[in-house]
Amino acid sequence: VSETILRHKTLARATHWSVAITFFVCVFTGMPIWSPVFGWMAHLFGTLETCRWLHPLAGVAFFATSLAMFLNWIGEMLRPGKYNFGQRAFFYLVSLGALGLIATGVVLWFPSSFAQPLRELSLVLHDFTFIAFAVGIIGHMYLGTIGEPGTFESMTRGTVTKKWARFHHPLWYREVTGEEDR
Ligand code: HEM
Repeated sequence: VSETILRHKTLARATHWSVAITFFVCVFTGMPIWSPVFGWMAHLFGTLETCRWLHPLAGVAFFATSLAMFLNWIGEMLRPGKYNFGQRAFFYLVSLGALGLIATGVVLWFPSSFAQPLRELSLVLHDFTFIAFAVGIIGHMYLGTIGEPGTFESMTRGTVTKKWARFHHPLWYREVTGEEDR
């Protein structure tokens, strides 16, 4: 058995999975509201009526957990070598996306409190941000599981093998182990 090292502490893993869970509640309650094509998804939580009240609340929960993840992870994101460029870009983009989704979502939630042009703009931006988000998440799920073997365990058990660390993040490997990356 190859030796393992800690990559994500319990709190970091808990924030990540609470973001992922609330994200999927938003997806499965939001898509039936978006189009009848996805109406079948509504049955996961009840009916379309359930989705209509649950979606905004799940959205607030998703934003809150995203904010918690941002605050909990920002220090590690700035640490040289722990994450590659793509991972850091993804982190900042999903943080920005969460902000965009909550801002436009609140407008759509309380339509009578906002002017018509702002409501129309919010609708377009809410949908556009979601589509971009969904594409990013699909790529992320692929890379976090079958795309890069050994990565998923970092978010479940919290650990990675030394081999994984040396291969994916040599600088971070050297920093945590004090060993050369060869
Ligand atoms: C089932 C779905 C998901 C899986 C399997 C998954 C898996 C992972 C794994 C394994 C890592 C650690 C990568 C590493 O240590 O190098 C990670 C990091 C991360 N996850 Fe997820 N994740 C999922 C859903 C999400 C969702 C929904 C979001 C945000 C809305 C998200 C945001 C992040 C961010 C920002 C990072 C750090 C940057 C990165 O490694 O790309 N994840 N995820």
